[in-house]
Amino acid sequence: MTEDSRSARKANPGISRRGFLHAGAAGLAGAPLAACAAESDSAASRRRPALTRPEGVEDDAWAHIRQHFILEPGTAYMNNASLGMPPASVAEAVAAGYEALSREPLQGKNELGAFIAANVVPRMAAQLGAATDEIVLTRNASEALHMGTVGIRLERGDEVLVTSQEHPAGRRPWDYRAARDGIKVNTVFIPSPLESEEQAVRLVEGALTPATRVIAFCHVTRGGHLYPVRQLCALARERGIVSHVDGAQAVGMFPVNLHDLGCDTYSASLHKWLLGPMGTGVFYVRADARDRVQSAFAPGGDLPPADDVGMAAYQPPGTSSLPLRAALAASLDLTEALDPENVAARTRYLSDQLKSRLAAMPGVTILSGPTPATSCPGSTIFEQEGVDAVEAVSLVARRGRIHIDEHQRDGHNAIRISTHVYNTTAEIDRLVDVLAGLPA
Ligand SMILES: Cc1ncc(COP(=O)(O)O)c(C=O)c1O
Repeated sequence: MTEDSRSARKANPGISRRGFLHAGAAGLAGAPLAACAAESDSAASRRRPALTRPEGVEDDAWAHIRQHFILEPGTAYMNNASLGMPPASVAEAVAAGYEALSREPLQGKNELGAFIAANVVPRMAAQLGAATDEIVLTRNASEALHMGTVGIRLERGDEVLVTSQEHPAGRRPWDYRAARDGIKVNTVFIPSPLESEEQAVRLVEGALTPATRVIAFCHVTRGGHLYPVRQLCALARERGIVSHVDGAQAVGMFPVNLHDLGCDTYSASLHKWLLGPMGTGVFYVRADARDRVQSAFAPGGDLPPADDVGMAAYQPPGTSSLPLRAALAASLDLTEALDPENVAARTRYLSDQLKSRLAAMPGVTILSGPTPATSCPGSTIFEQEGVDAVEAVSLVARRGRIHIDEHQRDGHNAIRISTHVYNTTAEIDRLVDVLAGLPA
């Protein structure tokens, strides 16, 4: 039983029924505990257009969705891969949760816990193609990656294969285990861009040794390269190896079905592409893999000290930020209404628009993978002759009020543009105009 479900048990059922138990963030907004309930249910939220599924990928079809975001007028945000831009409903739901705690802390805590157990965890699991008892919420992807790395059962001399493109959040916990437990970490070089899915599988397979016990890799790298997760997990399974996947840059950008991917563990941020509140993540352990992945923690709260309590055993113990977790319902409202397939099509459309404009610019080399099988829909990286990527970030912010990022890694001096459904082709045109004026 998780902290959230324990709270669910303690919550006053009468109040819960009247309040948080309405499905979706509307339930949170309707909580009688918080006056904010009334507010977020009225005024601003009533002025916003209905969250209907856009037909098609073009800007007109998505204009009503853009109105759900409260970005400063005149600013364009294209750095979603660093931190997602949550819609107004998420900000309101976070405020509603904290107001509930301020008005009546214990009751607020219990009701939020009940709401999360009933409305957030099952919907998140469904969105990820997992069972409810295969995920726990975390603060971020880094925490989840640590939980997996520290928990996988290994002995001195066992080897772990990681790729050269891992985020430090995916790599450092393995270095820690190497120093602490005497395991060996091998790194397979993956080129950027990745030529094909087969290339990635071939390189990983060629780097396995008889002592490899874990393969750790990204679903989507920081540079936006898409790895063939299903094939890599199948390879791991054939060899009796644990697959440990970093999905920080994947969840929310396109449909993710964990059972279908076949990974043993999966860690993700929910504050990037899912547009959840900052400080939210998820950790998945496939039910059949629990015997190979221990919990990183002693049982929290009133959990029995046995290891047969399901996924609750993996829950980071102690007090967590229930208002942030509860507000994930608002992100789920948005992504469920849009449909992840539709989100992928829209983000692919926008990055294709960007790529075709960049391809026409002299001195620009696009470094994103050559096909949709190797490049994710949302992030694009490229180098621009004579332009330092770090300087470009501040110049573009100053000259165009556009927020982008740099990608000076994997041997590149690249600029990273990460566009989500709320961006427009007009913003992309504006970006390209500003880029054309660099570095002068
Ligand atoms: C590939 C990858 N893994 C892990 C992380 C860490 O995510 P979080 O900040 O949610 O811990 C990031 C963050 O940018 C990332 O890009």
